[in-house]
Amino acid sequence: MASRIIPVDPFDLVVFGGTGDLARRKIIPALFRRWCAGQMRDGTRIIGAARSERDSEEYRALIGDALAEFAGPAARDADAVTGFLAILDYVTIDATGTLGWSELRDLLNPQRVRAFYFSVGPELFGPLAERLHKHGMADGESRIVVEKPFGNDQSSAEALNRTLTTHFQEHQIYRIDHYLGKETVQNLMAIRFANMLFEPLWNSQYVDHIQITVAETVGVAGRGAYYDHAGAMRDMVQNHLMQLLCLIAMEPPAKFDPDAVRDEKLKVIRALDPVARDDIVRGQYLGDSANAGYREDVGNPDSTTESFAALRVQISNWRWAGTPIYLRTGKRLRARASEIAVVFKETPHSIFGAEAGRHRNILTIRLQPNEGIDLDMTIKEPGPGGMRLVDVPLDMTFAQALGPEAQDVPDAYERLIMDVVRGNQTLFMRCDEVEAAWAWIDPAIRLCEDEALPVLPYDPGSSGPEDALALMHRDGRRWREIKP
Ligand code: BG6
Repeated sequence: MASRIIPVDPFDLVVFGGTGDLARRKIIPALFRRWCAGQMRDGTRIIGAARSERDSEEYRALIGDALAEFAGPAARDADAVTGFLAILDYVTIDATGTLGWSELRDLLNPQRVRAFYFSVGPELFGPLAERLHKHGMADGESRIVVEKPFGNDQSSAEALNRTLTTHFQEHQIYRIDHYLGKETVQNLMAIRFANMLFEPLWNSQYVDHIQITVAETVGVAGRGAYYDHAGAMRDMVQNHLMQLLCLIAMEPPAKFDPDAVRDEKLKVIRALDPVARDDIVRGQYLGDSANAGYREDVGNPDSTTESFAALRVQISNWRWAGTPIYLRTGKRLRARASEIAVVFKETPHSIFGAEAGRHRNILTIRLQPNEGIDLDMTIKEPGPGGMRLVDVPLDMTFAQALGPEAQDVPDAYERLIMDVVRGNQTLFMRCDEVEAAWAWIDPAIRLCEDEALPVLPYDPGSSGPEDALALMHRDGRRWREIKP
């Protein structure tokens, strides 16, 4: 497999919150790896901006430590690290005041792409956008990158969109959902729209149901203050699972371009039925001898926030009416495993008789880890003894099929930041998409809160609360096993 690195023109990237956790763990290491890959041309500059007072030399030392900790094996190359650190600068800035803004403007080159990454709390998005505008940095080729959470309900998301669009145009705003930058998530579109095989069967006539699982083994320790106000519904379902659902269910866009793709995703969100009370299961992980439970992790002994959510979702359109989609996500589950399983219907008639049993094809797209696809096929069990049938996997792990370079693909942040620089918004959420996602999930969250939908305890290392199993059993279906 030939690797194709297309260098981007020199650009200026300002990371607000440049000393924070996300910048040190994800954003700067991602830039470093792209730099090592040769994607950045000479002259590119990265400017950390934060409230704390330090000079550029001190900032480089801080980032040097962060690279050693978070940038993987590439950070062992001392020359590469030294070369990369030389393109860093630092500005002390007051996001809500006046300090540092003129200095920042004077550092930037208005003739080139200027990207401003808001790696800060959402309460600072407005003040930052306003000051960038006021100081003449919102024009031309400048663009802003905003992280989730993008609001915590429909009205706050709308208010945020109004604020940002007062100072920047929609084509300058890049709302990150890092799931869209994952290699396999993009592969969903290739699998669906670059193969003739699946699309004719991709509808309620042939598909019995779809399961989307994003299971994690980590808990929420260290992020309790944020997480206990968000819960799995806001933290994962409204964005990451919703994006997966859109990509799996959308109509083929006419072109692979930002608006064509996002128009189709939006239609899916708008066609979602409201979720009924009986179609939601919430859970909260307990502790064990090795780890604290959820309530201890968030420091709130009475918390009723969910660390697990399972939902039965229905899309009311011609393609999907009658095919439920089951979503499930949770922390401290049995394994870290994210997958989408498209479960096809049984054949309309079995020529092999009842004794051959019931069989169906299942297409599983493994998003992480062990990225690949797996198609369960029914074949004859080998040997004598009549026509006995057995289901076997047609298993393709991308790393095996594509060779070592498949293991060396850019991570989500690397890809997304380069897309910002290139000006490609396909993998970013448009304002109407975010608002529609909140409009759909808000009533479900209200149901949980107002009707005191119970939050059920589950054991760490399990598959979540028993009731999540019942959610499918009552439809005569069952979840796939969560396994690495
Ligand atoms: C984040 C959530 O957006 O995604 C986290 O806030 C979650 O709670 C994370 O753990 C999962 O991302 P990944 O890439 O590890 O699957």
